[in-house]
Order: sequence, then structure tokens, then C-alpha cells
Amino acid sequence: MLKVNNLTKAFGSGSNKLQVLKGVDMNIKQGEMVALMGPSGSGKSTLLNIIGGLLAGDDGSITLGERTYGLKGPSGVVDVRRELVGWIFQDFHLLDNLTAVDNVAMALELSGIAASDAEKAAVVALEKVGLGDRMHHIPDQLSGGQQQRVAIARAIAGNRPVLLADEPTGNLDIASGKEVMALFKELCHDEDNPISILMVTHDPDLASNADRMLLLNDGKTEASDIRSAWGLDEAGGEEE
Ligand SMILES: Nc1ncnc2c1ncn2[C@@H]1O[C@H](COP(=O)(O)OP(=O)(O)OP(=O)(O)O)[C@@H](O)[C@H]1O
Ligand SMILES: [Mg+2]
Repeated sequence: MLKVNNLTKAFGSGSNKLQVLKGVDMNIKQGEMVALMGPSGSGKSTLLNIIGGLLAGDDGSITLGERTYGLKGPSGVVDVRRELVGWIFQDFHLLDNLTAVDNVAMALELSGIAASDAEKAAVVALEKVGLGDRMHHIPDQLSGGQQQRVAIARAIAGNRPVLLADEPTGNLDIASGKEVMALFKELCHDEDNPISILMVTHDPDLASNADRMLLLNDGKTEASDIRSAWGLDEAGGEEE
């Protein structure tokens, strides 16, 4: 589904050059939920931004379904952002004055979908994230966890196969963070329409909800077993 091949990215030049990604390889299957971890400044957001068509890489490639890209700036990958990847951010990025359904519908309308179809799709997406009874609330009338679920509805409403989430639970309390993880799992493991999620988190406990964990270290990703990496096996009793 999503394949990253030997992707490199540096910022700056000359003696100020910072080689952030040094040949990242990874492969995410349809229906897989993958947690990306790594120290602050290791390039997690940079990697997501390139996959999501917000930033150009220097070398290497990304293959998402039939599409191959990675080295073009944002204007060269409009179709990737419109059709292939959905985004979830730490701070939700909802429009304050719009209701939940309008926040979701507007994003669809911007991608060229007719208003009435956009509204129908928005309602379906909000029901899917458990907000069927909050459609007409504005963000201020929703809890943080509910606001993030509106953002998730917005990301899945366009039926994009991949969802990128950069610290999606960073602004949420523990219980809401767990709810978001449970929802992500449901979306990935949905038998009718499984999506793939690549999620950055600093919290090993939340990462342990994923099917797999990758560690970004010294510019490359390495597979990492959540349980052994975080000593969860020894702790016993961590299994729910
Ligand atoms: N536009 C930019 N120009 C110059 N340097 C940048 C730019 N964007 C990121 N960097 C640098 O690249 C490195 C990786 O940044 P990035 O934001 O990808 O890290 P991160 O792993 O997401 O960190 P965090 O966990 O703190 O969010 C950092 O040293 C950062 O300062
Ligand atoms: Mg980051």
C-alpha cells in the first residue's frame, strides 16, 4: 500500500547542512496501524510531511497505491493530498465557527465534491467516529477528544487509503487518547474498508496499540518490538 524507498532529506546547506533523513525504507500494508517513534528532532514530522505531500524529499521515492512521488514540492502532489492521504494534527485544526458537520463537509467541498454529497459523506463519517449526536455542535461545545474525532471524521470522509497522524493525542487527556487509539484500530481493522494509519507518538503505552512500531533513529527507520523495547514483557500483567 505505502512504500518508502531510500528517502533522504536535508535542511540547510554547507556547514549548516542537517541531514535529517538518511535513507528511510518502510512498507505499510493496507489495514495496518503503525506507530512511529523516535527522539525529538529525529525527523518524524519531516517524514510524515514528505509522505503527505507537504514537503519535497531530496532523493528516494514514495509509492502509494499506483502513485509514485516524493521529490516534488507541494504544488506537484495536489492529487496526493486530495485523494490519497488524510491528516490528523495534534491541535485538531478545526474552524471555530463551523459545526462539526460543516467542518467535515467543507474539507470535502474544497476537494471538489458537490455540497449536498459532501454533507452526506460528512454525516456518515461523523457517525463512524461516534459523533452522530454532536453533528451541529461547534468546536467550543465539544471536548478535546470529541474535537479530535471531528478531525478524524474529516480525514476519513474522503475515503483516502492512508491516514497520517502527527502526535494525534498530544493535546488529549489519557482517557481521550485511548479512545482515539481504539478508533484508529477500528478504522484499520474494518473488514469492509480497511485504511492504513501511520502515527507519531511519544507515548509507548499508546504506541503499543499499533500493529507494529518503527523507530526513527539516526535518519533511518528500524523495526522495533514494542513489548521488548519498552520492557512490557518483563512487567507481566501489562496485557489487558
Ligand atoms: N523547514 C526546516 N528548516 C530547517 N530545519 C528544519 C526544518 N524542518 C525541520 N527541521 C529540522 O529537522 C530536524 C527534524 O525535525 P522534525 O520536526 O522532523 O523532528 P521530529 O522528530 O518531528 O521532532 P519532535 O518529536 O520534536 O516533533 C530538526 O532538527 C529540525 O530542527
Ligand atoms: Mg514532530
